[in-house]
Amino acid sequence: MNVNSSQTLLTVPTGPLQISDLRPTNNVYFSLVIPTYKERDNIQNVVKILSQTLDEFIPGDYELIVVDDDSPDLTWEVAQSLTQEYPQLRVMRRQQERGLSSAVIRGWQVANGSVLGVIDGDLQHPPEILTQLLSQIAQGADLAVASRHVDGGGVSSWSVVRRFLSRGAQVLGLMILPGVLGRVSDPMSGYFMVRRNSIVGALLNPVGYKILLEVIGRGNVQSIAEVGYVFCERQEGESKVTWKQYVEYIHHLIRLRLSTGRLGRWSQNSSFPIGRFLRFGLVGLSGVFVDMAVLYLLSDPSTLALPLTRSKIIAGEIAIFNNFLWNDAWTFADVSMRQQEWHQRLKRFVKFNIICLAGLVLNVLVLNLVFNFLIPNRYIANLIAIAVATIWNFWVNLKLSWRVTDVK
Ligand code: GDD
Ligand code: MN
Repeated sequence: MNVNSSQTLLTVPTGPLQISDLRPTNNVYFSLVIPTYKERDNIQNVVKILSQTLDEFIPGDYELIVVDDDSPDLTWEVAQSLTQEYPQLRVMRRQQERGLSSAVIRGWQVANGSVLGVIDGDLQHPPEILTQLLSQIAQGADLAVASRHVDGGGVSSWSVVRRFLSRGAQVLGLMILPGVLGRVSDPMSGYFMVRRNSIVGALLNPVGYKILLEVIGRGNVQSIAEVGYVFCERQEGESKVTWKQYVEYIHHLIRLRLSTGRLGRWSQNSSFPIGRFLRFGLVGLSGVFVDMAVLYLLSDPSTLALPLTRSKIIAGEIAIFNNFLWNDAWTFADVSMRQQEWHQRLKRFVKFNIICLAGLVLNVLVLNLVFNFLIPNRYIANLIAIAVATIWNFWVNLKLSWRVTDVK
């Protein structure tokens, strides 16, 4: 094999994980990093399809950068052998460092583009979406994220357990870092692009998989656009996600939380949806009356005289249903108007229900904590518990049930 310059591997940058200004030479518009670990059977297809897509859209004005962590299946070597056929392709083989997030950043560090992107190397991220993401950037977005949770998005065939885990991770993130995770509908996405200007100079410090958190948390990202996509099933190779990634994720959240020392942009320019919150509160109050009335009808000795617990469960559920109807028709009318189909309504109702039940658990928990350790007055403690549960219910429903994201 003749070794020309296009076939040499990229030098792995060392030092801090920081993106610098564009060098004046070799510039392209768009640099797309493809992190790989054991993707030997995918890499050729990925490079082929991405090249075809981008050749049509921005011919000659992009580069593909494969960053492989010295895969034992020699993915990097396969990638390297493709560089003759695909001159836009560059390959990095990392032997010292490991990990998805740092691989992406090392790739961006050698990139010559003013827009920096990332896509999985296993074809689970549909390449067609690339052009839509690029259009969003062209229209002025600083960050364009492919999302499973906006119109047109989804997962192909995930089990209930997997969906639940994924959503649980998102809710946890919303609690720890509302100003970061609250800005996008799919903070776990590993398919996005960002203007170099928005992250130049920021000292990135990710652990694990979720590089997008780092970009939003430490970068200077003003406007965000989202494009729906369906997360496809893997055809070749296997996922590298184990329980370890869940632990790393929590570690990452806490570290970002502590080191940025702020709730994020959300609290900075304080765009807390106060009107919506008040409507949500009023609806909650109406639920109290519904609950009381039904409890009376079912359990009062002068009416049906059913057992108390059974009556209360029914009363509570009817109150939840009442609240859902009002919230859907009033509090979040702008959102539900756009999603009026029955299965969409049903989905919202199921989510609302689960979140409110979790809110109830939280309510009891806070009541006990406050009463036993802080304020030994059960009514004051209960007021605090109700306040905490109301904020939980509002915030999580806002982000999950009636999805209001920063989509333009
Ligand atoms: N260089 C490098 N180093 N690449 C890695 C590493 C690593 O340590 N670990 C994984 N990768 C590569 C894989 O080869 C693949 O191209 C990509 O990163 C994603 O890894 P998968 O293991 O396939 O992840 P997944 O499909 O379960 O997880 C994906 O979940 C999100 C949706 O929740 C994430 O990777 C996201 O990109 C995706 O959007
Ligand atoms: Mn994958």
